[in-house]
Amino acid sequence: MPISLPIDIEQVKGFLAKDEADALYHYALKQSVKGPVLEIGSYCGKSAIYLGSACKETNSTLYALDHHRGSEEHQLGEEYHDDDLYDHQIGLFDSFKEFRKNIRAADLEQTVIPLVTSSAVAAKNWTTPLAMVFIDGGHSMEAAQTDYQCWAKHIISGGILAIHDLFPNPDEGGQAPITIYRQALASELFEEIEVVNTLGLLRRK
Ligand SMILES: C[S@@+](CC[C@H](N)C(=O)[O-])C[C@H]1O[C@@H](n2cnc3c(N)ncnc32)[C@H](O)[C@@H]1O
Repeated sequence: MPISLPIDIEQVKGFLAKDEADALYHYALKQSVKGPVLEIGSYCGKSAIYLGSACKETNSTLYALDHHRGSEEHQLGEEYHDDDLYDHQIGLFDSFKEFRKNIRAADLEQTVIPLVTSSAVAAKNWTTPLAMVFIDGGHSMEAAQTDYQCWAKHIISGGILAIHDLFPNPDEGGQAPITIYRQALASELFEEIEVVNTLGLLRRK
């Protein structure tokens, strides 16, 4: 079924292919009846709008976690730097204003709860079971490991772990996301459902 969003999603800056976005929406729609959804790595809100719209339909909640200071590749002079998102006054990247604007435009302020801090800090006292976790934060090995260790354990039985940017061929992309994906499978706590483009979907046994 086509997804109807109350915003022109093409105008939202982000890193998510259409087939991946559709998959996130459809899995979140099924999962969010069982509990809240959490994403790590919101940037300007593209994935949050798909996940959040699904949560809104089921009267659930999306926790959108991002320190909004950008990943390594967003910093000044790096490949994916966007100067519109750079606060020259304080000399820091800041995607939070753009994120808030887009969440408001998508009418999701009552559904999406922004957690503006790092993954490790947000996880410190976290106890809420999660029906779905989407990992799309920092792509260094350390950041991906932190995200996996901090959040996978909160997924309920039958819940979904979605990991973005899986590149089996190292020439095509960084290896941190696929490393934690393989780690989750090797733990035998998760089983593979499908891979949509670069989005891996696992189910917690
Ligand atoms: C690839 S972007 C996310 C793209 C987004 N999901 C979309 O749909 O466009 C990665 C985001 O992760 C955030 N990030 C990187 N490391 C983080 C960390 N340790 N804690 C929280 N957020 C982090 C960055 O600020 C950045 O906005």
